[in-house]
Amino acid sequence: MLILKTISDARAWRDSVGEEQKTIGFVPTMGALHPGHISLIRKANRENDLVACSIFVNPIQFNNREDLEKYPRTLDADIRHLEEVACDVLFAPTASEMYPGQDIINDKYNFGHLDKVLEGKFRPGHFNGVAVVVRKLFEIIQPHRAYFGMKDYQQLKIVEELVKYHKMPVEIIACPTLREKDGLAMSSRNVRLTHHERSIAPVIHRVLLEIKEKIGHLTPKGAQIWGANQLNKYAEIQVEYLQIVGADDLLPIETWDEKKSVVVLVAAYLGKVRLIDNMIIK
Ligand code: PAF
Repeated sequence: MLILKTISDARAWRDSVGEEQKTIGFVPTMGALHPGHISLIRKANRENDLVACSIFVNPIQFNNREDLEKYPRTLDADIRHLEEVACDVLFAPTASEMYPGQDIINDKYNFGHLDKVLEGKFRPGHFNGVAVVVRKLFEIIQPHRAYFGMKDYQQLKIVEELVKYHKMPVEIIACPTLREKDGLAMSSRNVRLTHHERSIAPVIHRVLLEIKEKIGHLTPKGAQIWGANQLNKYAEIQVEYLQIVGADDLLPIETWDEKKSVVVLVAAYLGKVRLIDNMIIK
């Protein structure tokens, strides 16, 4: 696997691929790779001639310093995992390589209400930071397809919007969330849970499944309240939001009859660790 640390090396690699007319599948990550990431790499591998992965803990998408400092960094193990699944290229720049000046960091995106609700409400500036880095990574790697996990559902919608708005020639591929045997959504943050917290964590997925069963029995609002109450019964859990919204527009729904696909999204602190999950329920 080719490991590239600078933008100019990555551009040189991209130019050489361009001459060979090969397709590139791209998996942007912040490292601490788990089987969820690896499944994205495998899919990208099946669907493209070459696979590139990036590992960059993007400081401007963290609105909490402790979260940034505690974010797991496991580059050596990540490289081993990527080599095992035959990833062709790893782009792993430093923060000063990606952001040498302030200009790009000051870029402001407007995603309408998409980046103001849910995660956007509790993590101001987060999606702007994601948009800045994803756009820059897309410009450097120029992939034909880019793979995003549905666990970060709102991020997926934002990236789709970013690409549509800027007419970027990249196809966004949404990939299902990978779960542990007990249902917990795989996440790099899970390693920060204590043994006790880890044993409680699957309740988040269980409650999402149970909310699906409430369709037709409770109103969407009633189901939201019911779900949040189930989670808040645990002293260790603090729900930030649990919302049932349209799967495309992320707008609240009043009744189940609306002819649109529906997603329930949740963010909750389990001890000091913030976990998110979601499920398309209709
Ligand atoms: O989902 C992530 O890991 C990050 O938000 C991403 C897309 C790599 C941007 O930093």
